[in-house]
Amino acid sequence: MFKLMWGITGTGYVLQESIDLMKELQDNFNIDLTVILSKEGSAVVKWYKKWLALTEAVKKVKVEKTPNIPFYAGPLQIGNYDLFIACPVSANSVAKIVYGIADTLITNCVAQAIKGGQIVYVFPSDQDTEPIVTSRPDGSPLILKIRDVEIENIKRLNQMEGIVVIKKFEDIRKLILQKVKEKS
Ligand SMILES: Cc1cc2nc3c(=O)[nH]c(=O)nc-3n(C[C@H](O)[C@H](O)[C@H](O)COP(=O)(O)O)c2cc1C
Repeated sequence: MFKLMWGITGTGYVLQESIDLMKELQDNFNIDLTVILSKEGSAVVKWYKKWLALTEAVKKVKVEKTPNIPFYAGPLQIGNYDLFIACPVSANSVAKIVYGIADTLITNCVAQAIKGGQIVYVFPSDQDTEPIVTSRPDGSPLILKIRDVEIENIKRLNQMEGIVVIKKFEDIRKLILQKVKEKS
């Protein structure tokens, strides 16, 4: 079985799309999916009223207690997972990752996986230079300006060893299916 680890941080961007994709992948492919969330990731999923949808779609949903609890940094570091994707990744987590800070579940898993020689696939929510259109928890559109610091951090992220930045959400499905095919 293909072991997929999917990390979610505290951003409302592509949440429903991510849950839909998780569901579709599990229904159609032999995928053992674990979803891990930063504390704020779980808070934001609840803000957007997606908690039920997520936990109905995925059996293994684990929320950060500390950067090392639940303990996934070790298993990720030694390659126990076939693929580790972090999506969506907040500007906060991107900033931490690029400066080597590992004080949340997701940023710690990213850091330790890379230290173990693994590749981590990251889909940041704020990666365009243009303002992004996201949605408020009530579903209405929200336009957010991307600050220079975020653009700089995305550039750093693109240059980081062990990180592959995913530019378009659609590419996540392609990536997973390609990796599943390679393993089978
Ligand atoms: C409803 C809601 C939506 C948010 N959307 C975003 C977002 O789109 N992008 C972002 O970078 N942060 C967003 N945030 C702020 C982050 O959740 C916040 O920076 C938090 O510290 C991120 O923690 P984490 O990176 O450990 O998950 C949002 C927060 C809330 C409450």
